[in-house]
Amino acid sequence: MNVLNPNKPDLRYTSEVEKSTAHLYDKVRKVIPEVEWPVFAPLIHRINQLKAQKNAVILGHNYMTPEIFHCVADITGDSLALARSASKTEADIIVMAGVHFMAETSKIMNPSKKVLIPDMGAGCTLAEAITAADVRKLKAQYPGVPVVTYVNTSADVKAESDICCTSANAAQIVEGLGVPRVIMLPDEYLALNTAKLVKAEIITWKGRCVVHEQFSPADIRGMRESNPGVVVLAHPECSPEVVAECDYTGSTAGMIDYVAKHRPPKVVLVTECSMSDNVAADFPELDFVKPCNLCPFMKKIELQNILHSLEAETTEVHIDPAIAAKARVSVERMITGWKYGT
Ligand code: 13P
Ligand code: SF4
Repeated sequence: MNVLNPNKPDLRYTSEVEKSTAHLYDKVRKVIPEVEWPVFAPLIHRINQLKAQKNAVILGHNYMTPEIFHCVADITGDSLALARSASKTEADIIVMAGVHFMAETSKIMNPSKKVLIPDMGAGCTLAEAITAADVRKLKAQYPGVPVVTYVNTSADVKAESDICCTSANAAQIVEGLGVPRVIMLPDEYLALNTAKLVKAEIITWKGRCVVHEQFSPADIRGMRESNPGVVVLAHPECSPEVVAECDYTGSTAGMIDYVAKHRPPKVVLVTECSMSDNVAADFPELDFVKPCNLCPFMKKIELQNILHSLEAETTEVHIDPAIAAKARVSVERMITGWKYGT
């Protein structure tokens, strides 16, 4: 006998669930096999009901898997877009389908909201590469040199910085400061790639992204050999040697915009591999070569823990208000523009 617990939501694939999620399956059918849909659909249906009941919004990074990205996220994008949306949302609850520094940025930008992350273990090797004490030491070593900090950092580190940047605006932020020398942290590769685009000298730090540091120039040459004519797009967290082998470098949103604008018949996104699935769902006519490097932190976010997060309103992100206020200055300067010393 099948006895349903009245306190537990029914997560069966009923005809009601099938009907209410059919339009969502249409979006992802190229990348999610039909046999998997009955597992995802009841979770998606329940999450979307709960969002409406609780006035919650889900922010989904471009690296989420397609059933999250296309079926439950209300706002999707790169780190910059998510930070902007977090500052504007009128929802009572923000659920970050992304990693911890992104949830912290949402809280920094909109402190009165309840910000939830479905798994506190969703970290980032770049955010772990530097502490606030490291930044204080650098500032003492290079007095008067502004600190440009990648958003992939903790609130403590942002609070010690002059201004933030993302992979979408790093060169523009450095140029905008109008100074001959900057400290850019913690991603060494982003800093070296940015140094090629700006006049200022850049002092770097030794942080690396565990996903992007794995790509080598030989990998890119191999992809071109096996896929003649392929267009290669890379994230600037890749090494400068990898970037030199590619046709375009940009943030995750920059790569998506490139695909939308140029429609290359065969393309490879040299970045975390869920993004290719998400873009392939939007451009089914294009052929995506998929190098499968997964971010183990992004992959901690799943439909099951998003549902639990919304149900139990956990795990909430808290930041010391004094730290958050200082960090907000750095993020806001990035969004509104800032010249050093003003
Ligand atoms: P984007 O800002 O380009 O989305 O990058 C975030 C990130 O974590 C890349 O690894
Ligand atoms: Fe951090 Fe790299 Fe994962 Fe992005 S892909 S969250 S930079 S570890």
